[in-house]
Amino acid sequence: MVRKIGVLTSGGDAPGMNSAIRAVTRIALNNGVEVVGVHNGYKGLLEGTFEAMDRHSVSDIQDRGGTKLGSARLPEFREEAIQNECIKNMKREGIEALVVIGGDGSYRGALALTQKGINCIGLPGTIDNDIPGTDFTIGFDTALRTCVENVDKLRDTSSSHHRCSLVEVMGNRCGDLALYTAIACGAEMVISPETGYNELETLERLRYLSDAVRKNHALVIISEKICDVNALAKKVSLNTNFSGRATVLGHIQRGGTPTATDRMLASRMGEKAVDLLMEGIGGHCVGIIDNEITSMPIDEALGRPKKSRKHLYRLFDRLV
Ligand code: F6P
Repeated sequence: MVRKIGVLTSGGDAPGMNSAIRAVTRIALNNGVEVVGVHNGYKGLLEGTFEAMDRHSVSDIQDRGGTKLGSARLPEFREEAIQNECIKNMKREGIEALVVIGGDGSYRGALALTQKGINCIGLPGTIDNDIPGTDFTIGFDTALRTCVENVDKLRDTSSSHHRCSLVEVMGNRCGDLALYTAIACGAEMVISPETGYNELETLERLRYLSDAVRKNHALVIISEKICDVNALAKKVSLNTNFSGRATVLGHIQRGGTPTATDRMLASRMGEKAVDLLMEGIGGHCVGIIDNEITSMPIDEALGRPKKSRKHLYRLFDRLV
């Protein structure tokens, strides 16, 4: 039976990570398992920045965005020498197993440690919703709320001025934030890695919306890393009857008090992670599939194809 576990958050922070830390800590302690918080992701394993957690360490954190433990990206963690150093530090601290809350890069680290004898469980924590093996990630719902709140505001001003708002949202090569925002806000267009991007077709479509459909405004939701939204806004002003304005929502999407949905998801996933470690299972990741909490080997999850959103793109098209 495992006696002491660690918990860390890694990669870009996501609202709801605190609920996951709280669930892991409280449920482990209530089962007689000691808990160590690792600061700043894998970097904390390397630097040995550990914090003994008691039940009060995770009081009053569920309503806070970000992560109480801090997060970081550590690409060097791919190197075996670095992994070995981390394992030495964990052994010195008595940490026998670990819960890793983060994205797919963090999962790969968790798998590497498991293969070296430290059981790890991955929880999907990212606003991007781009992790295989789960329908939803911790943080996606809160980021979506932020996108929707802001795009609703842009609609007000766009329709007053016969403007086209081009709104860039995050997603790291996954179009879910853009697609869900576009449906929820009744946008006119969505441009994402799944739709692809063609500048001429985009301008043609906007001319049609302005001149034939006689729309007063247009909202175009665009996933990051696809095009330069500022340059596109200028082209919209030059080539259509809309005046184009670009908004990059940026890192506000990563902050804010987590929604109840994210807090629930994180709590349920945290519970599953502790249960798996107490059963002696490592190298798995936790997911939610059809509203059931599930787990599967990390390598199986990482090998799965990207979730299909065809039905939602079809819905978007039928709503325009
Ligand atoms: O993975 C979360 C995310 O916010 C992505 O959507 C985005 O591409 C990236 O992180 C930004 O990273 P950083 O905060 O390091 O600039």
